[in-house]
Amino acid sequence: MRKNELHVVTGAFGFSGKYIAQRLLEAGYQVRTLTNSPHRANPFRGRITAFPYNFDKPRKLAESLKGATVLYNNYWVRFNYHNAVSFSYAEAVKNTNILFDAAREAGIKRVVHISITNPSEDSPFEYFRGKALLERALAESGLSHAILRPAVLFGKEDILVNNIAWFLRRFPVFGVFCRGDYCLQPIYVDDLARLAVEHGGRTGNAVIDAIGPETYTYRELVKTIGAGIGKQRPMISIPPLAGYILGSLIGEMHGDVTLTLDEIKGLMAGLLCTGSPPAGSKRLSKWVRENAALVGSHYSHELARRKDREKPYDQL
Ligand SMILES: NC(=O)c1ccc[n+]([C@@H]2O[C@H](COP(=O)([O-])OP(=O)(O)OC[C@H]3O[C@@H](n4cnc5c(N)ncnc54)[C@H](OP(=O)(O)O)[C@@H]3O)[C@@H](O)[C@H]2O)c1
Repeated sequence: MRKNELHVVTGAFGFSGKYIAQRLLEAGYQVRTLTNSPHRANPFRGRITAFPYNFDKPRKLAESLKGATVLYNNYWVRFNYHNAVSFSYAEAVKNTNILFDAAREAGIKRVVHISITNPSEDSPFEYFRGKALLERALAESGLSHAILRPAVLFGKEDILVNNIAWFLRRFPVFGVFCRGDYCLQPIYVDDLARLAVEHGGRTGNAVIDAIGPETYTYRELVKTIGAGIGKQRPMISIPPLAGYILGSLIGEMHGDVTLTLDEIKGLMAGLLCTGSPPAGSKRLSKWVRENAALVGSHYSHELARRKDREKPYDQL
């Protein structure tokens, strides 16, 4: 691939998209982003131009992709938003299909698509079903592609690891759902970005479990985070519903949704775990120790990120 090529990254002012964009700029590519927040503080000091997604104007969307060779797509919604049809899994599936069509129309040569571990069209969870439908749509689109399937991302803007640490800092005990023996394989966000850029430069179709080098049970994950920030807490087993209610109360205090019931059930069903070899190298245990003062120092707010479309992501 030639270095002055134009690549498009979705959500470059958000979480994973920012790291992918950063790596592309460092490698000398021109970068453009598609985003729901074109006015968010541009962490790249104007080196990236931002276009709205324009899902309702597919022609315009295709125009904003014109001239680009690779599209890195991470667009998705974490859960169905009450009273906001436009932010639902169904809408995200529909919009992503529009994006794939626009990519084909614009002559995009390669799509790197971020999915999830263990997607399945038969899954009881809409998140995993929607992701499986999109993987199939991409495979059938005729576009050259790589699908990266992370389980959980960690990094200074992440929500799950940060908010576990936030809780550990403030409460004397930590409740794990049932035995806490279901596993997770977190990958560092910049490892995912490296993989994305690597696969953007390849040609064959590929599906990769984008998992990190450490496999934790949920209980071990909480223990590791606690040890890393110097806040080891006794853990008690609680029924998932009680955990959900407690999480909802904390969410309400912040005007946020901390954790959904489907997220708890998906985690407990082992869907954030695979039998694949690691694709990332950074260890969460080491990263938490290195960032001990930062991790969990403030609550990471999913809904504020959606409502405030101007502030830098890591301040919300
Ligand atoms: N974060 C994780 O731990 C994790 C774990 C496994 C898989 N994944 C997958 O990795 C991908 C990227 O995740 P991320 O955390 O890096 O995402 P993100 O930066 O928060 O968002 C990615 C893109 O989706 C848009 N978006 C997110 N939520 C939205 C909503 N409710 N309504 C409308 N647009 C929304 C964002 O809009 P803006 O441009 O306005 O920011 C951005 O363009 C996703 O496909 C996700 O399924 C993430």
